[in-house]
Amino acid sequence: MAAIRMSGVTVWRWVAAEERRAVLLSEVDWAVEPGQHWVVLGPNGAGKTTLLNLAAAVSHPSEGTVEILGETLGSVDMRKLRESIGSLEPGLSRKIRGRYTGFEVVLTGATGSIALLHDRITADDRARADRLMGEIGVEPLRERRFEDCSQGERQRLLLARSLMDEPDLLLLDEPTTGLDLPSRERLIASLDAMAEANANLPTVIVTHHLEEIPATTTHALLLRDGAIVAAGQIAAVLTSEAVSTTFDIEVQVAHNTGRWAAMVIRS
Ligand SMILES: Nc1ncnc2c1ncn2[C@@H]1O[C@H](COP(=O)(O)OP(=O)(O)OP(=O)(O)O)[C@@H](O)[C@H]1O
Ligand SMILES: [Mg+2]
Repeated sequence: MAAIRMSGVTVWRWVAAEERRAVLLSEVDWAVEPGQHWVVLGPNGAGKTTLLNLAAAVSHPSEGTVEILGETLGSVDMRKLRESIGSLEPGLSRKIRGRYTGFEVVLTGATGSIALLHDRITADDRARADRLMGEIGVEPLRERRFEDCSQGERQRLLLARSLMDEPDLLLLDEPTTGLDLPSRERLIASLDAMAEANANLPTVIVTHHLEEIPATTTHALLLRDGAIVAAGQIAAVLTSEAVSTTFDIEVQVAHNTGRWAAMVIRS
């Protein structure tokens, strides 16, 4: 069973002020299988978050079909389906109470809630939170207040949180935004550690930068103006030509010890 299967998916919104339809995604066909780790790349406004919102069972397609974990959107209880999906969306960190310790923040993932619901937390949840914090490498933040953590530390805590509820699919929208180089590298190392510890868990990471792709990534999808430029095995997709087309700027793509980079060519 595919974790995500989209066929002929189009998303449009009515823009009343301009009396026209804005097409956010057009004719998307995409499948994510268990054990695959995808990166979705594209410029601002390409439709990446729109695509991820479908995968997260947050919104419906205007046309076409979306199957998530074997369930078809439109004929399933979206809230129930969302319990099987882990996610790290932009702005999540602002919603979490600053007084919580790192450990408590991770624990909130057990109930998928923003608040810590003490009466629903079990000894197993606590043990799992500790194990995940070890896996992701955030034990030193166990007793630190969330409001005292740096942005990078918060992102890594939220990554551990997103795994608490044993998701069958993990979606991360721009997890590295706003991080400096060492913090970004620590988060990427955590993502690699997570992928290695959960080999079968399908993941999708959205980013703008090739430099932010974890080495464990197996597949890539390039999106431009709501349409797929290329999708498939990462090494076949991330060519200089396809990346240049996607971002509409001529770049040379480099690949070294599992990591990727794009360099602008000046003529
Ligand atoms: N409700 C809406 N009505 C009209 N246009 C919309 C609506 N929601 C989103 N859009 C537009 O759809 C396009 C795709 O948005 P989306 O958020 O998916 O892009 P993105 O690839 O995630 O961009 P970014 O990299 O900036 O996060 C954007 O141009 C956005 O302005
Ligand atoms: Mg976005």
